[in-house]
Amino acid sequence: MASTSTAAAAQSIRSEKMFIDGAWVGAASGRELPVEAPGTRETIASIPRGGAEDIARAVKAAAQAFPAWRRVAPRDRGRMLQKIADAMEEKVEDLARILAEETGNAIRTQARGEARSAVDIMRYFGGLASELKGETIPLGEHVLSYTRREPIGVVGAIIPWNAPVALAALKIAPALCAGNTLVLKAAEDAPLGVLAMTRICEQFLPKGVLNVVTGLGEEAGAALSAHPTVRKLSFTGSTEVGKIIMRAAAERIVPVSLELGGKSPSIVYPDANEDWAVDGIIAAMRFTRQSQSCTAGSRLFLHADIFDSFLQKLADKTAKFKIGDPLDETSDIGAIINEKQFKKVCGYVEEGLNLPGSKLLVGGLPPKSGPLSKGYFAVPTIFANAANDWRLAREEIFGPVLVAIRWTDEADAIRMANDTHYGLAAYVWTKDIGRALRASHAIEAGWVQVNQGLGQFPGQSYGGVKQSGIGREHSLEGMLDSFTQRKNVTVNLAV
Ligand code: NAI
Ligand code: MG
Repeated sequence: MASTSTAAAAQSIRSEKMFIDGAWVGAASGRELPVEAPGTRETIASIPRGGAEDIARAVKAAAQAFPAWRRVAPRDRGRMLQKIADAMEEKVEDLARILAEETGNAIRTQARGEARSAVDIMRYFGGLASELKGETIPLGEHVLSYTRREPIGVVGAIIPWNAPVALAALKIAPALCAGNTLVLKAAEDAPLGVLAMTRICEQFLPKGVLNVVTGLGEEAGAALSAHPTVRKLSFTGSTEVGKIIMRAAAERIVPVSLELGGKSPSIVYPDANEDWAVDGIIAAMRFTRQSQSCTAGSRLFLHADIFDSFLQKLADKTAKFKIGDPLDETSDIGAIINEKQFKKVCGYVEEGLNLPGSKLLVGGLPPKSGPLSKGYFAVPTIFANAANDWRLAREEIFGPVLVAIRWTDEADAIRMANDTHYGLAAYVWTKDIGRALRASHAIEAGWVQVNQGLGQFPGQSYGGVKQSGIGREHSLEGMLDSFTQRKNVTVNLAV
């Protein structure tokens, strides 16, 4: 990951720029960072290593663009976002290829879908511009008291690498629709798709409204979260960094939205011992995106009556996935983002193999030779007979390691599901809908799915409770709550 410019300069790779005040520029320091392809471990590009000086320029540009942008009629802002959506739709295939290469996500199962969902997000928020409305408050005939939804100002957004283009869209679309201007910091591990998307946005937006900076978290990210002109922070990433962002926000009393990690439970009842539930558990675990998803259903609570038979079906299906080149249409599973994450995932697998009482059902450590050893390819791994207090069952692994835990009493299953500092997603599997809803209401999570393990669609309220985050951004209400502030105006009509 992060090293110096020399590594990038030594090879003939393309040199990317970042987007500040309507221009494509390098870092003020002239420094660069290499971008590595996880499938091959080759450096494929270099990006500017943005720092405090670059952030200051970007924030200044966004602040200068704000007064005019907030006065653009919301409908017109929405139309710009919809034009961006149309233009992105034409480029879905290009975006998908860039994503597959830089993230290691398999193109068929993940990268293409991500590019399409970014289009959906742009289009969805573009259509909501007219909903930025306020209320009137009935204080009496002699008074007109009303609220306005006003933009907050310059938004500083920081995104991770696991779904970079969709997550960039999820910051850009609601922030801009609501009349804010934006400085977005891309993740150092996956900036290329975001930059490609920015080249599309650039064609439809006034200068300074959207600025995209590349660089490291501790440099560009920290400078952005600490900048005094930034009036709102929106962060997606680890819980650890989320706390740093919230502290930075506390210094200046600016609102934050945090979308952080998870250790999401799947609770399977005896009547769901069938193929559809097995397929659903695989989807919820996000095995085909190497489980690098904050909503991965990574703790599997299986009823004792079906424990062995369900796991056997699950292991058989999981073993059939084809792991390989992210750009190959036949690959089901690609590579882990970088060496650090790869080693972290391998560390958890090793720990699982050495735990007394653990039972490896499928997977294990990655191959040390052959084509898969050329990239960061982890193998989908399931440990049976896990305990909810194992580190593997408590910590967000962000890799394809699933632990299966037995239960007999429903209250006990829910107690274990809730025994975590996370609270992002959850999955309940039973045809008894009354029971499913009782469990859904008892689970401490921001988003519960019953009998399916899909990703988020624009319009759903989505976000975490407990240390999985605060705030919602994915819906109309999310845009209103996270990217506008209310002002009340009260007029004495008797004068
Ligand atoms: P991270 O949280 O460190 O990185 C996310 C973003 O925050 C990146 O753009 C990074 O440059 C930035 N950042 C890092 N440190 C910062 C700081 N001090 N100030 C401002 N910005 C900063 O995530 P990382 O290191 O890539 O992954 C570590 C773990 O985080 C993963 O294993 C996973 O558990 C979790 N994670 C969760 C994600 C989610 O969607 N909830 C996404 C990515 C990681
Ligand atoms: Mg980090």
